[in-house]
Amino acid sequence: MNPKVSLNIHTPVLLREVVEALAVQPGGRYIDCTLGSGGHASAILEHSLPGGQLLSIDADPEAIELARVKLEAYRGSSLLVNQNFINLKTICTKYNFFPVHGILFDLGMSSVQLSGSRGFSFQRDAPLDMRYNPSDEVTAADIVNNSSEDELAHLLKTYGEEGYSHQIARYIVKERPIETTLKLVRTIEQAIGKRRGRIHPATKTFQALRIAVNHELENLSSVLKQAVELLGFEGRLVVISYHSLEDRIVKQFLRKESRDCICPPGTPTCVCGHKACLKLISKRVVVPSREEVRLNRRARSARLRVAQRIINHNEYFQSFARYSFSTGITNYHEHFKLIFSTLNIN
Ligand SMILES: C[S@@+](CC[C@H](N)C(=O)[O-])C[C@H]1O[C@@H](n2cnc3c(N)ncnc32)[C@H](O)[C@@H]1O
Repeated sequence: MNPKVSLNIHTPVLLREVVEALAVQPGGRYIDCTLGSGGHASAILEHSLPGGQLLSIDADPEAIELARVKLEAYRGSSLLVNQNFINLKTICTKYNFFPVHGILFDLGMSSVQLSGSRGFSFQRDAPLDMRYNPSDEVTAADIVNNSSEDELAHLLKTYGEEGYSHQIARYIVKERPIETTLKLVRTIEQAIGKRRGRIHPATKTFQALRIAVNHELENLSSVLKQAVELLGFEGRLVVISYHSLEDRIVKQFLRKESRDCICPPGTPTCVCGHKACLKLISKRVVVPSREEVRLNRRARSARLRVAQRIINHNEYFQSFARYSFSTGITNYHEHFKLIFSTLNIN
């Protein structure tokens, strides 16, 4: 793919709100866990001048190459890593990139991926692939062609919240092998009819397959904890989700980690010993304005949540020293300098 052709296809969602939620400031250190076309990344870099640094991650090697062109002007301050964000802590340890002032997740797929030929869209014919990282093992075609009818129905119900999961699964099994997007769309239409309300009949099946292929919900559940541990004092965690399954995971995580006690209601005295490590910056979810949705249809389902790391200074030094010890990092001087830089920032 020629990077210049699709450079501007993806419009970053809630751009101003992301910069505000991260409280981006000159000299700050940030992580963008879902680089995509680099729209949010370039805004973060611009607002963190002079002296800011950004570590960006994407599982898709094509996204990394596209964004590299876009972020060329910030070459000295920007580090791009082609990895799955499930390895966030390992990546940050490798590059000595912690503690940080803010971490962003803009979940799901980009418009570049949707308009490409890797099978993310039900509107154009392509091999049924859907992997963010083409070197991952399992494709959507593997799942569609090798799962039992019950497994397919369960997957469509769980990851797509598809009410017609059994009908669709039955037709898929009947029509196999299914190797392309349009054959899958035709199969779904045979199973449940061409149009149901405002959404295309294949929407939920495609969402379910994409989530399953890329382990999206498991990855999200596991990375949020890692992200919090990498945040410095008052560092910000910002997550944009695009469907209720991922938003629920984010909401429940933030709710739990912003409470001091998570004992069941009615427990006379606390026995869990849980301590809050986050403070919710806004209790209400941030959604795009009508104007943004008018200009960018993709923004319509976006929901942004933001929280801030809370920790007392002693606890912070102790946990950091423990972490440095367990990861084998010995350059304490540099790291304590960094801790101070995050502690002193307003
Ligand atoms: C919505 S797009 C991000 C768009 C970006 N914020 C921008 O402004 O251009 C999401 C990106 O996250 C990547 N992604 C999704 N899950 C990932 C994971 N587990 N690890 C790394 N990257 C992931 C996708 O490949 C995609 O490029």
